[in-house]
Amino acid sequence: MSDTKVYLIYFSPGGTTRKTVRTLSESFAEYEVIEIDMLKKENRNKQYTFRSNDIVILGLMTLVKPFGPVKDIFKAIRGNNTPLIGIVMFGNGMYGNSLKVVNREVKKRGFCMIAGGAFVGAMSYNRTVAANRPDETDTEKIRLFGDAINNKLKTNGVVPVKSRLRTDWPKSSIFHAVKTALMLYMPLGKIKVSAPLNRIEFTDNCVECGLCQSRCPVGAINLAQRLSDPKLCIGCVACVNGCKNGGIKYTNKLMIKAADACINHFKGRREPETFV
Ligand SMILES: Cc1cc2nc3c(=O)[nH]c(=O)nc-3n(C[C@H](O)[C@H](O)[C@H](O)COP(=O)(O)O)c2cc1C
Ligand code: SF4
Ligand code: SF4
Repeated sequence: MSDTKVYLIYFSPGGTTRKTVRTLSESFAEYEVIEIDMLKKENRNKQYTFRSNDIVILGLMTLVKPFGPVKDIFKAIRGNNTPLIGIVMFGNGMYGNSLKVVNREVKKRGFCMIAGGAFVGAMSYNRTVAANRPDETDTEKIRLFGDAINNKLKTNGVVPVKSRLRTDWPKSSIFHAVKTALMLYMPLGKIKVSAPLNRIEFTDNCVECGLCQSRCPVGAINLAQRLSDPKLCIGCVACVNGCKNGGIKYTNKLMIKAADACINHFKGRREPETFV
Protein backbone atom coordinates (compact mmCIF):
# COMPACT_ATOMS: atom_id res chain seq x y z
CA MET A 1 0.00 0.00 0.00
CA SER A 2 1.37 3.41 -0.93
CA ASP A 3 1.71 6.19 1.63
CA THR A 4 0.51 3.84 4.37
CA LYS A 5 1.02 4.90 7.98
CA VAL A 6 0.73 2.59 10.97
CA TYR A 7 -0.90 4.13 14.04
CA LEU A 8 -0.32 2.62 17.47
CA ILE A 9 -3.13 3.74 19.76
CA TYR A 10 -2.87 2.48 23.33
CA PHE A 11 -4.04 2.92 26.90
CA SER A 12 -1.24 1.37 28.93
CA PRO A 13 -0.89 2.44 32.58
CA GLY A 14 1.70 -0.28 33.30
CA GLY A 15 3.50 -0.28 29.93
CA THR A 16 2.85 -3.91 28.89
CA THR A 17 0.19 -2.97 26.32
CA ARG A 18 2.50 -0.35 24.81
CA LYS A 19 5.33 -2.91 24.65
CA THR A 20 3.07 -5.44 22.92
CA VAL A 21 1.76 -3.06 20.24
CA ARG A 22 5.29 -1.79 19.61
CA THR A 23 6.54 -5.34 19.05
CA LEU A 24 3.59 -6.01 16.76
CA SER A 25 4.39 -2.89 14.72
CA GLU A 26 7.82 -4.38 13.87
CA SER A 27 6.00 -6.63 11.38
CA PHE A 28 5.04 -3.42 9.53
CA ALA A 29 8.49 -1.84 9.62
CA GLU A 30 8.23 -0.87 5.93
CA TYR A 31 5.73 1.86 6.93
CA GLU A 32 6.01 4.99 9.06
CA VAL A 33 4.80 4.30 12.62
CA ILE A 34 2.99 6.98 14.66
CA GLU A 35 2.09 6.54 18.34
CA ILE A 36 -0.97 7.98 20.09
CA ASP A 37 -0.83 7.54 23.87
CA MET A 38 -4.37 7.54 25.25
CA LEU A 39 -3.15 7.83 28.84
CA LYS A 40 -2.97 11.52 27.92
CA LYS A 41 -6.30 13.26 28.29
CA GLU A 42 -5.45 15.80 25.58
CA ASN A 43 -5.14 12.94 23.07
CA ARG A 44 -8.49 11.48 24.14
CA ASN A 45 -10.03 14.90 23.51
CA LYS A 46 -8.77 15.09 19.93
CA GLN A 47 -10.49 13.67 16.86
CA TYR A 48 -8.42 11.34 14.68
CA THR A 49 -9.66 10.24 11.26
CA PHE A 50 -7.83 7.44 9.46
CA ARG A 51 -7.75 6.57 5.76
CA SER A 52 -8.51 3.23 4.14
CA ASN A 53 -4.81 2.76 3.39
CA ASP A 54 -3.70 3.35 7.01
CA ILE A 55 -3.31 0.54 9.55
CA VAL A 56 -4.45 1.05 13.14
CA ILE A 57 -3.21 -1.11 16.02
CA LEU A 58 -5.40 -0.49 19.06
CA GLY A 59 -4.15 -1.80 22.44
CA LEU A 60 -6.33 -1.77 25.56
CA MET A 61 -5.84 -3.37 28.96
CA THR A 62 -8.70 -5.35 30.43
CA LEU A 63 -10.77 -6.00 33.50
CA VAL A 64 -12.73 -8.76 31.72
CA LYS A 65 -13.85 -5.90 29.49
CA PRO A 66 -11.65 -3.11 28.06
CA PHE A 67 -10.62 -1.00 31.07
CA GLY A 68 -10.37 2.76 31.62
CA PRO A 69 -11.79 5.76 29.72
CA VAL A 70 -12.54 3.51 26.74
CA LYS A 71 -15.69 5.37 25.72
CA ASP A 72 -13.57 8.50 25.18
CA ILE A 73 -10.90 6.51 23.35
CA PHE A 74 -13.39 5.03 20.89
CA LYS A 75 -15.05 8.43 20.45
CA ALA A 76 -11.70 9.98 19.50
CA ILE A 77 -11.09 7.67 16.54
CA ARG A 78 -12.87 7.24 13.23
CA GLY A 79 -12.00 4.98 10.33
CA ASN A 80 -12.85 4.91 6.65
CA ASN A 81 -12.94 1.15 6.14
CA THR A 82 -9.54 1.35 7.87
CA PRO A 83 -7.95 -2.00 8.81
CA LEU A 84 -7.61 -2.28 12.60
CA ILE A 85 -5.84 -4.88 14.75
CA GLY A 86 -7.47 -5.16 18.20
CA ILE A 87 -5.14 -6.06 21.07
CA VAL A 88 -6.36 -6.71 24.61
CA MET A 89 -3.98 -7.29 27.54
CA PHE A 90 -4.74 -9.34 30.62
CA GLY A 91 -2.75 -10.30 33.71
CA ASN A 92 -2.81 -14.10 33.25
CA GLY A 93 -6.39 -14.24 34.61
CA MET A 94 -9.15 -13.57 32.09
CA TYR A 95 -9.79 -11.17 29.24
CA GLY A 96 -13.53 -11.95 29.29
CA ASN A 97 -15.28 -10.61 26.22
CA SER A 98 -12.88 -7.71 25.61
CA LEU A 99 -12.08 -8.73 22.04
CA LYS A 100 -15.76 -8.93 21.13
CA VAL A 101 -16.38 -5.50 22.66
CA VAL A 102 -13.47 -4.00 20.71
CA ASN A 103 -14.80 -5.55 17.49
CA ARG A 104 -18.30 -4.19 18.15
CA GLU A 105 -17.09 -0.67 18.96
CA VAL A 106 -14.61 -0.22 16.12
CA LYS A 107 -17.14 -1.46 13.56
CA LYS A 108 -19.45 1.34 14.67
CA ARG A 109 -16.59 3.81 14.13
CA GLY A 110 -15.88 2.84 10.51
CA PHE A 111 -13.03 0.36 11.04
CA CYS A 112 -12.66 -3.19 9.79
CA MET A 113 -11.14 -5.37 12.51
CA ILE A 114 -8.87 -7.63 10.45
CA ALA A 115 -7.32 -9.48 13.42
CA GLY A 116 -7.48 -9.65 17.20
CA GLY A 117 -5.14 -10.85 19.93
CA ALA A 118 -5.31 -11.33 23.70
CA PHE A 119 -1.83 -11.09 25.22
CA VAL A 120 -0.52 -11.43 28.77
CA GLY A 121 1.23 -8.66 30.70
CA ALA A 122 2.49 -8.44 34.28
CA MET A 123 -0.57 -8.08 36.54
CA SER A 124 -1.02 -4.39 37.39
CA TYR A 125 -1.80 -4.92 41.08
CA ASN A 126 0.79 -7.61 41.73
CA ARG A 127 3.69 -7.68 39.32
CA THR A 128 4.94 -11.02 40.61
CA VAL A 129 1.93 -12.49 38.76
CA ALA A 130 2.87 -12.96 35.09
CA ALA A 131 6.18 -11.33 36.06
CA ASN A 132 8.22 -9.95 33.15
CA ARG A 133 5.53 -10.71 30.61
CA PRO A 134 5.42 -10.19 27.70
CA ASP A 135 8.59 -12.31 27.73
CA GLU A 136 10.66 -13.83 24.90
CA THR A 137 8.08 -16.54 24.17
CA ASP A 138 5.30 -13.94 23.99
CA THR A 139 7.45 -11.71 21.80
CA GLU A 140 7.97 -14.52 19.32
CA LYS A 141 4.19 -15.13 19.21
CA ILE A 142 3.49 -11.42 18.74
CA ARG A 143 5.93 -11.37 15.80
CA LEU A 144 4.38 -14.44 14.14
CA PHE A 145 0.94 -12.89 14.62
CA GLY A 146 2.09 -9.61 13.05
CA ASP A 147 3.69 -11.36 10.07
CA ALA A 148 0.50 -13.39 9.49
CA ILE A 149 -1.59 -10.20 9.48
CA ASN A 150 0.79 -8.41 7.13
CA ASN A 151 0.60 -11.39 4.73
CA LYS A 152 -3.18 -11.50 4.99
CA LEU A 153 -3.45 -7.79 4.18
CA LYS A 154 -1.17 -8.13 1.17
CA THR A 155 -2.93 -11.24 -0.13
CA ASN A 156 -6.60 -10.59 0.67
CA GLY A 157 -6.85 -6.83 1.28
CA VAL A 158 -9.04 -5.46 4.05
CA VAL A 159 -11.27 -8.35 5.20
CA PRO A 160 -12.71 -8.90 8.69
CA VAL A 161 -11.11 -11.33 11.14
CA LYS A 162 -12.11 -14.80 9.95
CA SER A 163 -11.69 -16.92 13.07
CA ARG A 164 -14.43 -16.62 15.71
CA LEU A 165 -13.49 -14.30 18.58
CA ARG A 166 -13.63 -16.03 21.95
CA THR A 167 -14.97 -15.10 25.39
CA ASP A 168 -12.76 -16.76 27.98
CA TRP A 169 -14.70 -16.88 31.24
CA PRO A 170 -15.63 -20.42 32.37
CA LYS A 171 -18.53 -21.97 30.47
CA SER A 172 -19.45 -24.20 33.43
CA SER A 173 -21.63 -21.52 35.04
CA ILE A 174 -25.33 -21.59 34.08
CA PHE A 175 -25.10 -17.81 34.02
CA HIS A 176 -22.49 -17.93 31.25
CA ALA A 177 -24.87 -17.10 28.39
CA VAL A 178 -26.66 -14.34 30.32
CA LYS A 179 -23.41 -12.83 31.58
CA THR A 180 -21.88 -12.92 28.10
CA ALA A 181 -24.92 -11.21 26.57
CA LEU A 182 -25.17 -8.59 29.34
CA MET A 183 -21.49 -7.73 29.25
CA LEU A 184 -21.50 -7.54 25.46
CA TYR A 185 -24.47 -5.25 25.06
CA MET A 186 -24.08 -3.11 28.21
CA PRO A 187 -23.07 0.49 27.39
CA LEU A 188 -19.34 1.11 27.73
CA GLY A 189 -19.13 4.05 30.15
CA LYS A 190 -15.97 4.51 32.14
CA ILE A 191 -14.76 1.09 33.28
CA LYS A 192 -13.05 1.83 36.59
CA VAL A 193 -12.36 0.65 40.11
CA SER A 194 -14.99 2.29 42.34
CA ALA A 195 -14.18 5.13 44.73
CA PRO A 196 -14.00 3.41 48.15
CA LEU A 197 -11.29 1.06 46.86
CA ASN A 198 -9.08 3.79 45.39
CA ARG A 199 -6.80 4.71 48.26
CA ILE A 200 -3.49 5.91 46.85
CA GLU A 201 -1.05 7.37 49.36
CA PHE A 202 2.45 8.87 49.18
CA THR A 203 5.30 7.39 51.21
CA ASP A 204 8.47 8.96 52.65
CA ASN A 205 10.35 7.67 49.56
CA CYS A 206 8.71 10.26 47.29
CA VAL A 207 11.25 12.68 45.83
CA GLU A 208 8.57 14.86 44.21
CA CYS A 209 9.74 14.25 40.63
CA GLY A 210 6.16 14.74 39.39
CA LEU A 211 6.05 11.64 37.17
CA CYS A 212 2.98 10.11 38.83
CA GLN A 213 1.06 13.36 38.52
CA SER A 214 1.88 13.74 34.82
CA ARG A 215 1.09 10.07 34.08
CA CYS A 216 -2.27 9.96 35.85
CA PRO A 217 -4.83 9.68 33.02
CA VAL A 218 -7.58 11.51 34.91
CA GLY A 219 -5.72 14.23 36.84
CA ALA A 220 -6.47 12.64 40.21
CA ILE A 221 -3.07 13.41 41.79
CA ASN A 222 -2.26 16.66 43.56
CA LEU A 223 1.47 16.44 44.28
CA ALA A 224 1.64 19.72 46.18
CA GLN A 225 -0.82 18.33 48.70
CA ARG A 226 0.45 14.74 48.35
CA LEU A 227 -3.08 13.53 47.76
CA SER A 228 -5.02 11.57 45.18
CA ASP A 229 -8.76 12.10 44.76
CA PRO A 230 -10.51 8.70 45.09
CA LYS A 231 -13.56 10.02 43.23
CA LEU A 232 -11.52 10.91 40.13
CA CYS A 233 -9.11 7.96 40.41
CA ILE A 234 -9.99 4.98 38.17
CA GLY A 235 -7.57 2.56 39.89
CA CYS A 236 -5.25 2.00 36.93
CA VAL A 237 -2.12 2.16 39.16
CA ALA A 238 -0.07 3.96 36.50
CA CYS A 239 1.19 6.10 39.40
CA VAL A 240 2.30 3.18 41.59
CA ASN A 241 3.88 1.16 38.77
CA GLY A 242 5.56 4.18 37.19
CA CYS A 243 7.37 5.31 40.35
CA LYS A 244 10.89 3.88 40.61
CA ASN A 245 11.27 4.96 44.25
CA GLY A 246 8.25 3.30 45.86
CA GLY A 247 7.02 6.82 46.57
CA ILE A 248 3.35 5.96 46.17
CA LYS A 249 1.23 2.90 47.00
CA TYR A 250 -2.36 1.71 47.21
CA THR A 251 -3.52 1.19 50.76
CA ASN A 252 -7.07 -0.13 50.62
CA LYS A 253 -7.05 -3.45 52.52
CA LEU A 254 -9.52 -5.11 50.13
CA MET A 255 -7.39 -4.21 47.12
CA ILE A 256 -4.26 -5.51 48.84
CA LYS A 257 -6.07 -8.77 49.67
CA ALA A 258 -7.40 -9.10 46.11
CA ALA A 259 -3.93 -8.44 44.67
CA ASP A 260 -2.41 -11.13 46.92
CA ALA A 261 -5.18 -13.58 45.97
CA CYS A 262 -4.17 -13.22 42.29
CA ILE A 263 -1.05 -15.26 43.08
CA ASN A 264 -3.31 -18.31 43.51
CA HIS A 265 -6.18 -17.39 41.23
CA PHE A 266 -3.99 -16.54 38.25
CA LYS A 267 -1.39 -19.32 38.57
CA GLY A 268 -0.55 -21.60 35.65
CA ARG A 269 0.80 -19.84 32.62
CA ARG A 270 -1.78 -18.71 30.10
CA GLU A 271 -0.68 -18.26 26.52
CA PRO A 272 -1.66 -15.50 24.09
CA GLU A 273 -4.70 -16.17 21.89
CA THR A 274 -4.78 -14.80 18.37
CA PHE A 275 -7.50 -14.51 15.73
CA VAL A 276 -6.76 -13.69 12.10
C1 LIG B 1 -8.32 -2.42 37.82
C2 LIG B 1 -7.67 -3.57 37.12
C3 LIG B 1 -8.36 -4.74 36.93
C4 LIG B 1 -7.76 -5.82 36.27
N1 LIG B 1 -8.49 -6.96 36.06
C5 LIG B 1 -7.91 -8.01 35.46
C6 LIG B 1 -8.64 -9.22 35.23
O1 LIG B 1 -9.84 -9.30 35.51
N2 LIG B 1 -7.98 -10.28 34.70
C7 LIG B 1 -6.68 -10.21 34.34
O2 LIG B 1 -6.13 -11.19 33.86
N3 LIG B 1 -5.96 -9.07 34.51
C8 LIG B 1 -6.56 -7.99 35.06
N4 LIG B 1 -5.83 -6.82 35.24
C9 LIG B 1 -4.44 -6.80 34.81
C10 LIG B 1 -4.17 -6.07 33.51
O3 LIG B 1 -5.17 -6.28 32.56
C11 LIG B 1 -2.82 -6.54 32.96
O4 LIG B 1 -1.87 -6.52 33.96
C12 LIG B 1 -2.35 -5.71 31.75
O5 LIG B 1 -1.20 -6.34 31.23
C13 LIG B 1 -2.00 -4.28 32.16
O6 LIG B 1 -1.64 -3.54 31.03
P1 LIG B 1 -0.61 -2.31 31.11
O7 LIG B 1 0.67 -2.86 31.65
O8 LIG B 1 -0.50 -1.83 29.73
O9 LIG B 1 -1.24 -1.34 32.03
C14 LIG B 1 -6.41 -5.73 35.85
C15 LIG B 1 -5.72 -4.52 36.05
C16 LIG B 1 -6.34 -3.44 36.66
C17 LIG B 1 -5.60 -2.15 36.85
S1 SF4 C 1 5.55 9.26 44.11
FE1 SF4 C 1 7.25 8.68 42.83
S2 SF4 C 1 6.67 9.35 40.78
FE2 SF4 C 1 5.34 10.44 42.22
S3 SF4 C 1 6.40 12.36 42.59
FE3 SF4 C 1 7.02 10.93 44.19
S4 SF4 C 1 8.90 10.01 43.43
FE4 SF4 C 1 7.91 10.98 41.67
S1 SF4 D 1 -4.27 8.22 40.93
FE1 SF4 D 1 -5.66 6.62 40.27
S2 SF4 D 1 -6.16 7.08 38.15
FE2 SF4 D 1 -4.36 8.30 38.71
S3 SF4 D 1 -2.61 7.03 38.04
FE3 SF4 D 1 -2.98 6.55 40.19
S4 SF4 D 1 -4.39 4.80 40.16
FE4 SF4 D 1 -4.42 5.70 38.09
